[in-house]
Amino acid sequence: MNSEPLPLCNWFGETPKRGVMARGKRPVRSARVAECRVGLVGFGTVGRSVARILCERAPASLRLTHVCSRRIRRRELDWLPEDVRWTDDVNELLSSNVDVVVELVGGLEPAGEWIRSALRAGKSVVTANKRLIAHCGPELLELAHQMGGQLAFGASVAGGIPVISALQDGLAGDCLLQVRGILNGTCNYVLTEIESAGVSLAAAVEEAQKLGFAEADPSEDLDGLDAAAKLAILARAGLRVQLRVEDVLRRSIRDVAAIDFRYARELGCTIRQVSRAEVSGDSVFAAVQPALVPLPSPLARVQGSQNLVIATGEFGGETVFSGFGAGGDPTAVAVVSDLVSLAKANTNGARPAAARAPKEIRSDFFSPHYVRFTVKDRPGIIASLAAVFSEHQINIDSVLQKPGYPKSSLPFVIAFEACSAALLEQALDKVRPMEFFVQPPVSLPVLN
Ligand SMILES: NC(=O)c1ccc[n+]([C@@H]2O[C@H](COP(=O)([O-])OP(=O)(O)OC[C@H]3O[C@@H](n4cnc5c(N)ncnc54)[C@H](OP(=O)(O)O)[C@@H]3O)[C@@H](O)[C@H]2O)c1
Repeated sequence: MNSEPLPLCNWFGETPKRGVMARGKRPVRSARVAECRVGLVGFGTVGRSVARILCERAPASLRLTHVCSRRIRRRELDWLPEDVRWTDDVNELLSSNVDVVVELVGGLEPAGEWIRSALRAGKSVVTANKRLIAHCGPELLELAHQMGGQLAFGASVAGGIPVISALQDGLAGDCLLQVRGILNGTCNYVLTEIESAGVSLAAAVEEAQKLGFAEADPSEDLDGLDAAAKLAILARAGLRVQLRVEDVLRRSIRDVAAIDFRYARELGCTIRQVSRAEVSGDSVFAAVQPALVPLPSPLARVQGSQNLVIATGEFGGETVFSGFGAGGDPTAVAVVSDLVSLAKANTNGARPAAARAPKEIRSDFFSPHYVRFTVKDRPGIIASLAAVFSEHQINIDSVLQKPGYPKSSLPFVIAFEACSAALLEQALDKVRPMEFFVQPPVSLPVLN
């Protein structure tokens, strides 16, 4: 916080003071006591929603005093109180008397430098920037602590679901062993669209883009980078292990097709992009990949752009959190909740429990697997494949083949009993060059 500590304030039960709107005039707020002055940098999807909540519904102790926006002009907003200072110069906001800077610009830089400047100036910071927190979270938390400020980033994972505070504080009494979930709403929308409409991945992505659920370049979502950044943050918050984004095994959902959902059904499953981190002694395993999940699992029931996180504790078992993982308003709720907590805490930063460096980052895991092969049909194909899998000591559980496909491009699925993913990959490397393949095999783990 600034040189003056934030006043202790508990506004529960207080009626929010709203702006008094005179005809043709901007709202003007009455003076308040015990305020936490908030400066907002970035006035995009989330920034605008945060500003609106702060101006129209915020607890009395939070006061939006500054907004820094490059593109939007203040005159475009008739709901912004007159006393909010509007600037396109971030330095004006950083050198002002705000107590908390809310960074909603995104990306590593210049957002990172602005946050460092704010912390060095003794201010606290609230951000929704998952990329920055995944890459520089520990360094920024340390700086906040040294400077007597706080850094809160509850909105950086799972949007409106308060999962970071739930793992860090709500479940602090347990020893969490595993965190898994659906952390990328774009992928979940795309997969559930393929599942329900039977469309191709390209068509589902196009639809997601039209509806604003996917970026023009959706690579970070589809290839798991976005979810890997969120998983690294969750692993630090819940499992207390330092995990870099690069430590997370990543596989794209781009190979998943409508036919995989039909075969998955036969196995009592559906397909989701699952993010999962688990600790075992001194080792950690973390992956973001498309996987078959059993239909009764909470993961299977997540539809559209929703998010879900399941935390598994040694003592408390499974706890499930679900809700809107993105969108201006849900994410803004998480940002404002962080502001409320900061103002209430009024401390110089009770640090979250330290995350330890694991001795080993495991990249292999055991599970049953599903592999779809698409071949130009001829006798002996299954026998050739079976010989390679048997050489690798991998047991076939069942072979599934649906009728109605041409012999020139015939899909079938082999379900494998639990085996090492690395060993299966070695076997697949051996079969890939076989001349009967029309397209490369698609391999997905089956999670229980
Ligand atoms: N949208 C979501 O659903 C969601 C969910 C969870 C977390 N988040 C995170 O929330 C943050 C903001 O996301 P958003 O969706 O609100 O993004 P957005 O709509 O693209 O808004 C970003 C804002 O930052 C401004 N900005 C960008 N670069 C700037 C620069 N160099 N100098 C000054 N201003 C700059 C932009 O101004 P211009 O308009 O002038 O370019 C815009 O106002 C990101 O970290 C994102 O990962 C978003």
